Amino acid sequence: EKGGYPHFMLKEINEQGAVMRQTLTGRTEGNVVDLSNELSWTSDWARSIKKVHLVACGTSYYAASVAERVMGLFTDLDVRVDIASEYRYRSIPIGEDTLAIFVSQSGETLDTLAAERFAKEKGARCLAITNNGLSSIAREVDDVLLLKAGPEIGVAATKTFTGQMAVLYLMALYLAKLRESLAKDEETRLVKEMTCLPYKIEGLLENSGPIKSMAEKYSLARDFLFLGRGFSFPIALEGALKLKEISYIHAEAYAAGEMKHGPIALLDRAVPVVVVMPDDELWEKTLSNVQETKARKSPVIAVTTVGRESSLKDVEDILTVPSTEPELSPFLTVIPLQMFAYYVALARGTEIDQPRNLAKSVTVE
Ligand code: M6R
Repeated sequence: EKGGYPHFMLKEINEQGAVMRQTLTGRTEGNVVDLSNELSWTSDWARSIKKVHLVACGTSYYAASVAERVMGLFTDLDVRVDIASEYRYRSIPIGEDTLAIFVSQSGETLDTLAAERFAKEKGARCLAITNNGLSSIAREVDDVLLLKAGPEIGVAATKTFTGQMAVLYLMALYLAKLRESLAKDEETRLVKEMTCLPYKIEGLLENSGPIKSMAEKYSLARDFLFLGRGFSFPIALEGALKLKEISYIHAEAYAAGEMKHGPIALLDRAVPVVVVMPDDELWEKTLSNVQETKARKSPVIAVTTVGRESSLKDVEDILTVPSTEPELSPFLTVIPLQMFAYYVALARGTEIDQPRNLAKSVTVE
């Protein structure tokens, strides 16, 4: 069942190229996004809404946070993302002009289910993005988009995170298309590149040797900081969550620009800093955070786009990802972070597939 891998988590990490391919199949023919077989949305309805609320917990919340940024780019809608256990207790307007999207791998997370009931009661149109079409959340919503990731056994979500992001991107493109807010050539550019991602992900996975030795080198650290800007901020959060879940090392993620507002006080040579900095318009700004970090003697592990290494000469360790469209970098930058967490946990001998105190689906508040 583990397909020759020592852990489900490693198997599931390695399935991500295939999951991506499966997610796109039947939805992106001719580089055009079509979800009309799965969603009941019409152009009139799509043009009538004003707000999108993305609601989820844990890793699913980070996928939703990437989607929040993407939807802001593709549409002029008022988009916000919320943690499910907070959403219900806010007084924000929710009504018929609201599309509420619930992202849940299991479809059984109680806080997410309760948030869905709350939004439905207020008149929002509800969409579930889930890996289980028979789950409680899937049964209650107006529409469902499935991940097609297959069962995920490892408690730490990996392939379902990339699967969720892929479905969320397709949904965002489709909604933008119904609202006529995105140019056709933009859609083609993004969908074309999405179909190349499985190959890029597989290429990255084949080259895990350097990550393994790097992880061994850092496996005794007590604290880690993860930094990123823009699309890379939720990826920094996800990288930190993966590391703490399975290795039990304290890891915190910050928006890189927040460093000077507090977390920089933590830095010294004992605190490695993972900086997620793919080649995008924020690269230079994040580079200045790398320099600030180096000045405090913290070892830096940079996750960046191939070709950028020469500007990072003082950095201890560099993990490169292939180049892609800037909006799609999260699909690639998350992969080395998942592998890094896995190999750190392996070196520390922790229970990788079944970390202490955690359950695969959280059905209590
Ligand atoms: O099934 P869900 O996507 O609703 O689960 C949400 C979280 O409990 C889940 O993502 C959790 O954070 C994982 N253990 C992350 O690896």
